Amino acid sequence: MVQFRLPKNSRMSVGKTWPAPAGATRTKTFRIYRWDPEDGANPRIDTYVVDLDDCGPMVLDALIKIKEEIDPTLAFRRSCREGICGSCAMNIDGANGLACTTAIDSVKGDIRIYPLPHMPVMKDLVPDLSHFFAQHASVRPWLETVTPAPEREWRQSVEDRRKLDGLYECILCACCSTACPSYWWNGDRYLGPAALLHAYRWIIDSRDETTGERLDDLEDPFKLYRCHTIMNCARTCPKGLNPAKAIMEIRRLMLERVV
Ligand code: SF4
Ligand code: SF4
Ligand code: FES
Repeated sequence: MVQFRLPKNSRMSVGKTWPAPAGATRTKTFRIYRWDPEDGANPRIDTYVVDLDDCGPMVLDALIKIKEEIDPTLAFRRSCREGICGSCAMNIDGANGLACTTAIDSVKGDIRIYPLPHMPVMKDLVPDLSHFFAQHASVRPWLETVTPAPEREWRQSVEDRRKLDGLYECILCACCSTACPSYWWNGDRYLGPAALLHAYRWIIDSRDETTGERLDDLEDPFKLYRCHTIMNCARTCPKGLNPAKAIMEIRRLMLERVV
């Protein structure tokens, strides 16, 4: 288990400022949360003024430029740069999103960047997602069958396959769960929108043969029923998915079992 060192208190230290390069005429200021568990200091906001005429158009382009050319100590996650790996999720100008698909021009004024909210921070913009992924694994996000496997493949009609649209596209970026007030307060026991969206994806998969067990596993006052339909999850999802709807559908299936 990861041992976290926490800031000494809730005060922010004074951050550093890197001014615009000489001659830059079109600049953008990035105010970025910094915290290093190794240096014993409190978190701070560092300010970087970036020359937009020498930078790509996305927030991730600016972060990479800052790390490569201005301040190599800045830590953040990224991989695909195409909005499909989910690793560059962070809080940009007050909203969770993907740095690689958020245009710098879409934010007016300075851009404030923080790690995803209400998660332990490992360093700077890197949250610890161990619990989030453990919750995802707890819904058994894979096909489970009891009948012997067919010789070639488990077949599915086009109509049944379509039922997975709006679910399978999830990239597990955690933007939704970390925007969910219920998850903030009860994230230790409430599974949160992302894990529940995946739970529903397997519950309604026509090839899965453990639907009853899956629903039994979710019949719990905290795992499923902490959703209060606040809809932050759907509002923030960078893939346009609606985890709240999936949660409501699971609840409907629960009710249908009772009546
Ligand atoms: S709708 Fe439910 S899961 Fe989505 S943000 Fe609100 S409480 Fe969380
Ligand atoms: S539902 Fe959307 S916001 Fe939530 S983890 Fe999946 S892709 Fe990210
Ligand atoms: S780097 Fe993969 S989603 Fe942004």
